[in-house]
Amino acid sequence: MIFRQLFDSVSGTYTYLLASRRGGEALIIDPVIEKVDRYMQLVRELDLKLVKAVDTHLHADHVTGLGALRDRTHCVTVMGEQTKADVVSMRVAEGDKVQIEGVSLDVLYTPGHTDDSYSYVLRDRVFTGDTLLIRGTGRTDFQNGDPRAQYDSIFNKLLKLPEDTLLFPAHDYKGETVSTIGEEKAFNPRLQVKSVDEYVDVMNNLNLPNPKMMDVAVPANLRVGLAQDAIAARGWAITAAEAAMMIGRPDITLIDLRETVERERHGTIPGSLHAPYSDIARQVQPGGMVHDLARAHAGNRIVFYCAFGERSAMAVQAAQDAGLSSTCHLHGGLAAWKQAAGPVEH
Ligand SMILES: [Fe+2]
Repeated sequence: MIFRQLFDSVSGTYTYLLASRRGGEALIIDPVIEKVDRYMQLVRELDLKLVKAVDTHLHADHVTGLGALRDRTHCVTVMGEQTKADVVSMRVAEGDKVQIEGVSLDVLYTPGHTDDSYSYVLRDRVFTGDTLLIRGTGRTDFQNGDPRAQYDSIFNKLLKLPEDTLLFPAHDYKGETVSTIGEEKAFNPRLQVKSVDEYVDVMNNLNLPNPKMMDVAVPANLRVGLAQDAIAARGWAITAAEAAMMIGRPDITLIDLRETVERERHGTIPGSLHAPYSDIARQVQPGGMVHDLARAHAGNRIVFYCAFGERSAMAVQAAQDAGLSSTCHLHGGLAAWKQAAGPVEH
């Protein structure tokens, strides 16, 4: 297991790099844009392939590295389903798993600091974002924060984990690096309350100034920019309405790039094939399904789709780069398809 805790001293942010082995797939949690060169260097040095980048919540104190990492590695960007950040290509919910080769994170919805705050459990450790900090808790006074929800997230979810679970937060301002659930239960001053009302009272009377970066970071993190805008400009995108007209035509092949859990939860477009995005580099080469389909029936069109159109946009670019000129994608993904009342089967 490869586990690295990286630090951005300007914002006091911890970023985590995970992989099961050298030469394997890697995942990064809460990357900071100014540190992307450093992450990429470490990824190269450890011979890793970055395939997923996760933000625990929409950050107000730094600009996320998700967009830059997506542009450099074509990784999948992950946040919770409540997020309004445009850069996200895979949205998760409580009970889901975020998986890469040899690593599986259990998804816990832990709102309170923000309404899009999630924690991720990896066997003996938990990444708590800003929900639960070392001897502290994340503020709840902006971005739809809610001290009552945070109390519930902490007391009824995080503190229910085994006491020796290692706690890795998104921030620390005093140089603490790791704690345990048991330690925080016993010694975190914010948790020594007798009731939810007492906790709400504490949190509502912190009177903190806004983070220095807030006016810059929040809008920047909401609008990172989409991979699919560039693809649409090249004419490789079709709208949901156009796709609906093509359904059932023998010269059209729809390919779903989402993971199996997403397909099960949100349904699929009838008649579509499945080729997970994580495998797309191989799929567009000779012997891969996408390549062979494109080559077998000249004149046929291959239409990729995913959840929101971001992974499918990157897949079109990969396919076009591999010379498969008959590929395009569904702009806006299954979300746009559902909005246009396209049929979905479960
Ligand atoms: Fe935060």
